[in-house]
Amino acid sequence: METKLFSPVTIKNVTLHNRIVMSPMCMYTANTDGKVKPFHITHYGSRAIGGVGLVMIEATSVTSEGRISNQDLGIWNDEQIDGLREIVKEIHRYDSKAAIQLAHAGRKAMADGDTIAPSAIPFNEKLKMPTEMDEKMIYDTIEDFKQGAVRAKEAGFDVIEIHGAHGYLINQFLSPLSNKRTDDFGGAIKDRYRFLEKIIDAINTVWNGPLFVRLSANEYAAGGNDINDFIYFSKRMKEQGVDLVDVSSGGVVVAPIQAYPGYQVTYAEQIRKEANIKTGAVGLITSGIQGEEILQNHRADLIFVGRELLRNPYWALQAAKELNVQIPTPKQYDRVWF
Ligand code: FNR
Repeated sequence: METKLFSPVTIKNVTLHNRIVMSPMCMYTANTDGKVKPFHITHYGSRAIGGVGLVMIEATSVTSEGRISNQDLGIWNDEQIDGLREIVKEIHRYDSKAAIQLAHAGRKAMADGDTIAPSAIPFNEKLKMPTEMDEKMIYDTIEDFKQGAVRAKEAGFDVIEIHGAHGYLINQFLSPLSNKRTDDFGGAIKDRYRFLEKIIDAINTVWNGPLFVRLSANEYAAGGNDINDFIYFSKRMKEQGVDLVDVSSGGVVVAPIQAYPGYQVTYAEQIRKEANIKTGAVGLITSGIQGEEILQNHRADLIFVGRELLRNPYWALQAAKELNVQIPTPKQYDRVWF
């Protein structure tokens, strides 16, 4: 059978051999220097051997104070490039493509150093009170994202994703629940979008490969952004040349999330339809059939898989078997088809 999940797709200058993406997942395994360890190379390389089309590296911090923890991977200095390049090489060895998620945790940072945010509102009682960013801090952080993209290019990544979800810094600017500013970077929706807008513009000056942005398309709280707001952001991103919106949800404020199979897929579907931009679906997608359904029904363009790929690095092979297709594998693994 011809499947969509296992058919190639080209985004800008990059062709993925299938539509399966390893969703970015922090491994909290770096030392405080933010550098790659042997674990990371094996961890990401094994998913490439396992047949994932695009292996996305975990949230990697563009500043040292912007880390979620002191164990995050970092991309804030040139010494961090070599290790990242080793991951990319390992992924390329098995014909997969490599992506990196550029991140800044804002008020959710728990690494050493002061925390910053659009407004001085802590996430909860346990996390630090953030300093409200002044204009200089805003423009410095935009530059940090740009320099992160320069280093990602240097390391050889094929795709860059900006982390605009889960209540981290960019999401804090987008949401009226965490952004109470009265200057150009807060208030109306177009002003709350400005920080992300400028980050995208800055990255576009140094990067011409595929650019993805992850959004949290449901804030699960009264007074937060709703789906129409996310459609607005996605339209703006499309105008700026963003290739794909990776559609997640939650994390901007403390709120319960009801997770069930495919619980975020409808947001990917709506954004794809209304903003006319490629989307990635993520969240409790655990079988090949489920991924195929989402693609065939035009609900998303790529299938991001998180925890299932932690459980099983060879999930793509299993999904291919389930869908009755034979996909190219490293020759050592040919026997899986017999
Ligand atoms: C995550 N997730 C996540 N998301 C993100 O955008 N950047 C990240 O660095 C992380 N880190 C992370 C670590 C771990 C251990 C888990 C389990 C999750 C969220 C992840 O990418 C994915 O969106 C969710 O896990 C939902 O997809 P699954 O796991 O149901 O396929």
